[in-house]
This record gives sequence, structure tokens and C-alpha cells, in this order.
Amino acid sequence: MRSFLLSLLLPSLRTALAHAQNTTTYLTAPALITSPQNTTVIQCWRLAQPFTRSSLPGITGSQTVTISNTTRLDYTILPPRYDGGLHTAPVPQLVHFLSGLARITLPQDADTELWIVGGKGGLVFAADTVGLGHFTTYPSDQETVAIAAPLQHGLLPEHEVLNEGPCDGLQTFL
Ligand SMILES: *[C@@H]1O[C@H](CO)[C@@H](O)[C@H](O)[C@H]1NC(C)=O
Ligand SMILES: *[C@@H]1O[C@H](CO)[C@@H](O)[C@H](O)[C@H]1NC(C)=O
Ligand SMILES: *[C@@H]1O[C@H](CO)[C@@H](O)[C@H](O)[C@H]1NC(C)=O
Repeated sequence: MRSFLLSLLLPSLRTALAHAQNTTTYLTAPALITSPQNTTVIQCWRLAQPFTRSSLPGITGSQTVTISNTTRLDYTILPPRYDGGLHTAPVPQLVHFLSGLARITLPQDADTELWIVGGKGGLVFAADTVGLGHFTTYPSDQETVAIAAPLQHGLLPEHEVLNEGPCDGLQTFL
């Protein structure tokens, strides 16, 4: 009797669980791009490609998304309170701050600032290769560690612009 009940219940339980776990999620990150007016603007991007369940050995079942092909990987350690000055992105690249803190501001727009806290929310697409550029400072008392990877052929990942300006959920203030 008990196993009969279980055999009735288990499939519907499994379906319920599958439904509960079936939320499609997307990677969201800020981006710097050059506007038609030749200024750098900040946008919040949601990648078009959703996370999927990996079938790779060692990470089977985990959430994964391929962001882009890249051509190189630089690991950079910025000193405490470093001032990167006004600059454009050298090439369209993915930058991920692993630790520390970065503050990005725009010469033409005193009201907008993008704070990036090192860690899982540390991803930014830097694609403002021409124009006025942006300021970056690293105002914390710790080193800021970043990895940077140029995007192959300068190709930006397909994305939707969620809003102009920083991503709300990723924006952090000191
Ligand atoms: C999960 O979502 C996809 C896309 O919306 C849908 O095709 C699929 O049937 C869903 N699976 C379950 C178990 O709900
Ligand atoms: C990445 O490289 C693979 C293998 O060369 C290729 O099939 C794929 O189209 C590339 N993707 C992009 C976005 O360039
Ligand atoms: C954009 O700015 C760059 C300087 O970074 C300049 O060389 C270029 O001519 C400008 N383009 C336009 C369309 O104003």
C-alpha cells in the first residue's frame, strides 16, 4: 500500500520540483559603450543567452552560460587608492573585478557613477574604445584585482539593454 502511494506521489513531486527549478535566468552586468555623440555611456545589459544546466564533467547540473570567445587573459593588481585617469577601453573587453572596488565616472555627466564591488557582481563589459572615455578610480584601502579578456573580433555578446545607467542590483555605495 505504502509503495503504491509513493509510486503515485513521486512522479507528481518530481514534476513539481522540475517546475520549481525551471526558472530561466540570465546574466546581468553593466557595460560601457560609445554613444553616437562620442561620449561614454553606462548601460545595464542582460545577456540574450540564458543560463543552462551544464553537462560537463565536474560541474554537471550547475548553471552555466558561455559569454563570448576571448583572445587573451590578463590578471591585474591595482594598488590601493589607484587613479586610472580618463581613458577609453583599449579594445572591447570583458573585465571582472575579483576583489577591491572600482568607481567609474563620466566627464560629461557628473550625476552618474558606476561602483563595482569585487566579487561575483564584479563583471563589466568595457567597449567604449573611441570618444571621450571614462574615469576609473580604485578608492579602497585594499588592492583591486581584475581579470580582463579582449573579446574575439571585438564581438559583443548578444544582449538586451535593461536600462541606461548602472544595473540597480549591482550598484553599491560606500
Ligand atoms: C521549462 O521551460 C521551458 C521553456 O519555457 C519549457 O519548454 C519546458 O517545458 C519547461 N519544463 C518544465 C519541466 O516545466
Ligand atoms: C567561438 O568559437 C567557436 C569555435 O571556434 C565558434 O564555433 C563560435 O562561433 C565562436 N563564437 C563567437 C560568438 O564568436
Ligand atoms: C570621437 O572622438 C575621437 C577622440 O577620441 C575623435 O578622434 C573622433 O573624431 C570623434 N568622432 C566623432 C564622430 O566626433
